[in-house]
Amino acid sequence: MPGWLIWLLAGGAAVFIVLLFYWQIILTEGVYLGQGMVTWLYDITANRYDRIKQFDSEVETYFLGRPLAMVLQDNPSSLVLDIATGTARLPLTLFEQPAFKGKVIGIDASRKMLAVAADKSKPFADRLTLLWHDASLLPFPDDSFDAVTCLEMLEFTPDPEAQLAEAVRVLTPGGFLLTTRRTGNQANFMPGKTHSPEGFAAVLSNLNLVEVQIERWQVDYDLAWGWKAGCETRSSKAVNEILRCPHCLQSSLVERELALYCAACDARYPIHSGVVELFRNNYR
Ligand SMILES: C[S@@+](CC[C@H](N)C(=O)[O-])C[C@H]1O[C@@H](n2cnc3c(N)ncnc32)[C@H](O)[C@@H]1O
Repeated sequence: MPGWLIWLLAGGAAVFIVLLFYWQIILTEGVYLGQGMVTWLYDITANRYDRIKQFDSEVETYFLGRPLAMVLQDNPSSLVLDIATGTARLPLTLFEQPAFKGKVIGIDASRKMLAVAADKSKPFADRLTLLWHDASLLPFPDDSFDAVTCLEMLEFTPDPEAQLAEAVRVLTPGGFLLTTRRTGNQANFMPGKTHSPEGFAAVLSNLNLVEVQIERWQVDYDLAWGWKAGCETRSSKAVNEILRCPHCLQSSLVERELALYCAACDARYPIHSGVVELFRNNYR
C-alpha cells in the first residue's frame, strides 16, 4: 500500500474518532453510552456546572420562579418534585418567591451535583429534601405531588417517554407538570431522544395531561406545561409519608441517627451533608 494512502486512512480514522467522541461525549453527554456515563459526566462537571450554564437569577425568576409560585400560591403547603434537580436551580428560584410556602424534593442520579445543590440551598434546608436516586423509578406512590418539574433532563435518559410517564404517575390529579423539550441544531444529533413540538404535545396529551402549552424558552429548550386530568385533589403530603424504601417499596422510612431506616425491611439510607443516599446499595 502506498505511503500516502496509509496517511490518508490514518488521518480519516483520526477525524472519525474525534467526531465520534465529540458527538457521544460533548453533544449528547454520553446518553447513547448508558446511564452510568451520563451520571459520571455530570459528576465530573458538577463544580463547574453553574459557571458553564451562567444562570441569570432575573431570567430564572421570570420564566420559572414567578410562574410556578403563582400557580401554587393557593396551596400554601404544596409539595413539588424536581426530577434531575442538578445544582438546585429550580428549588432555589422557587424558594426566592415569597408567594411560595411549600416544600420541594429534588432527586438526581449525580451525587456530586447534589453536593453542590446541598451547599447552595443551606438557607432552605428545612424545605428541600435532596435524594440521590435514579429518577427512572421514582420511590413514591401514585398521585403524590402537587407539581412535578423536570428541566433539561429527558434527552439524557434511556427512554424519555417512559420518564415522562413516571413523572405523571406521581403527580396528583389537577397538579401540573413543567418540563422541557430539547430544540435547536443539537437536537438533530439526538435521534430517539427529542420530539417535534407537535410530537411532544401529543406525548403529553397521551399521558393524560390537559391544557398542554409549549413555549419558547432558551436557545436549546422549550418549556412545556400540562395539567394532570381528573378531579382536583391537593396532595400536600409530608415527605416521610410518601417516600418509599427503594428496596421493598414500603413507604415506611423513619429518620434516626442521620439515616433513614425502613421499618419493613431494615434497609438503611445514610443522610450525608444534606443528601439522602438512596442510590448506593445500603440494604442492611
Ligand atoms: C442538564 S442537567 C439539568 C439540571 C437541572 N434540572 C437544571 O435545569 O439545571 C441534567 C441533570 O439530569 C440528571 N440526570 C440524568 N439522568 C438522570 C436519571 N436517570 N435520574 C436522575 N437524574 C438524572 C443529571 O445528573 C443532571 O444533574
